[in-house]
Amino acid sequence: MFSEKISRALNDQINVEFNAAYAYLGMATWCERNAFVGAAVWLRQQYQEEIGHGMKLYHFLLARDCDVELEEIAKPNMKFDSLLAVFEDALQQEQAVSERLERLYQQAFEERAYTTLVELQWFLAEQVEEEKTIRDIVKKLRLVQDDPSALLEIDRALGERGGEGVQVQ
Ligand SMILES: [Fe+2]
Ligand SMILES: [Fe+2]
Repeated sequence: MFSEKISRALNDQINVEFNAAYAYLGMATWCERNAFVGAAVWLRQQYQEEIGHGMKLYHFLLARDCDVELEEIAKPNMKFDSLLAVFEDALQQEQAVSERLERLYQQAFEERAYTTLVELQWFLAEQVEEEKTIRDIVKKLRLVQDDPSALLEIDRALGERGGEGVQVQ
């Protein structure tokens, strides 16, 4: 069992991960509707990963004999001006999640919640990866601007991420 504070913060983080998942699904839908089928594949894969993150915390709370409180998930944004705008939003979202996880880590550190610290280390490392991957995509999209053939080439490459239909625990 954790302190009330830590248990609430971990439950909130489950909700943050599921909201992130839904945001990616919204982005994927816009992409698919606007000819960026590869980006849609990439974003739906990311949707699955965020669900996986939420489930990792879900299982962690249950394993530590804590209550799980599933909260509402917000309606995601589904209107974007460009593929660049999609990935800029994604980067912003990941940066906000990273900051949140760092605050959570700080809280767990102050409370000497050792098992939570170990669990959160995985999440912090994952955020470094995700931010880098998305930042690289944003850089490429800024570089090519509105060049249709270059945009479609980036879209094709994004579609190679694959892994759709992967089951999450
Ligand atoms: Fe996540
Ligand atoms: Fe993420």
